[in-house]
Amino acid sequence: MSQPTRPLQKIVILTGAGLSAESGLGTFRDADGLWAQHRIEDVATPEGFARNLQLVHDFYNARRAQSAEAPPNPAHKALARLQQDFPGEVILVTQNVDGLHEKAGSQAIHMHGELARALCAQCDARWDAPMVMTPDTPCPNCGTPATRPDVVWFGEIPYHMDIILDHLQTCDLFAAIGTSGQVYPAAGFVEEARLAGAQTIELNLDATDVSRAFDAHRIGKASQIVPDWVDTLLG
Ligand code: OAD
Repeated sequence: MSQPTRPLQKIVILTGAGLSAESGLGTFRDADGLWAQHRIEDVATPEGFARNLQLVHDFYNARRAQSAEAPPNPAHKALARLQQDFPGEVILVTQNVDGLHEKAGSQAIHMHGELARALCAQCDARWDAPMVMTPDTPCPNCGTPATRPDVVWFGEIPYHMDIILDHLQTCDLFAAIGTSGQVYPAAGFVEEARLAGAQTIELNLDATDVSRAFDAHRIGKASQIVPDWVDTLLG
């Protein structure tokens, strides 16, 4: 006998690079994605940064410039509409560092940091990032030239995990949009939500490594399937 579905009061939505693909920003693991053009070890690890500061700054400076120009697409806008009009709570958790949720009018929890923010590797101060960072950029707090992008690299712990886990344990519906399910802990969120008894849905261009963990699926481009799904939720 199937369980009766409980009323939807709280929705948690995890977003990934596929959400911003139609805004002109490359994903990571698609055939022409960022990780086909750059080695993760070189540009997305603390060790890579220690080896070649300029290379890493160049990589993130280029991504920061590209993100600043990119417009939110209909999927970002639909999620902003959902966050505003849904009678319950809608928590957006994003792995994206591009700031497009905010440009569309949403508030999101940035578990992998933000290109628009800088972090001092010496004293942990954070501030709005300049468009171009160099190995000489000083920290406004301690003055040390130890500025790095405020993004989470492989081998580092994603941000806000306690609050995200709390939300997953108290949600009624969990959705993952445009994420390949290859990077943990985000790829494990569906299991956390299932344990809490939530319904789960995956929205993606294709099936992913974790598709089988979801109750329901919508396949297609985010700019089409996300607005349709939001319309369904808002009735
Ligand atoms: P990936 O590049 O791994 O996956 C992107 C997903 O989006 C794939 O499953 C695609 O099928 C899907 N996709 C592509 N275009 C789409 C479209 N128009 N509409 C819907 N879906 C589409 O990106 P993420 O899963 O976000 O972390 O990657 C997770 C993390 O790995 C990133 O945050 C980053 C990366 O390494 C760090 O840098 C720490």
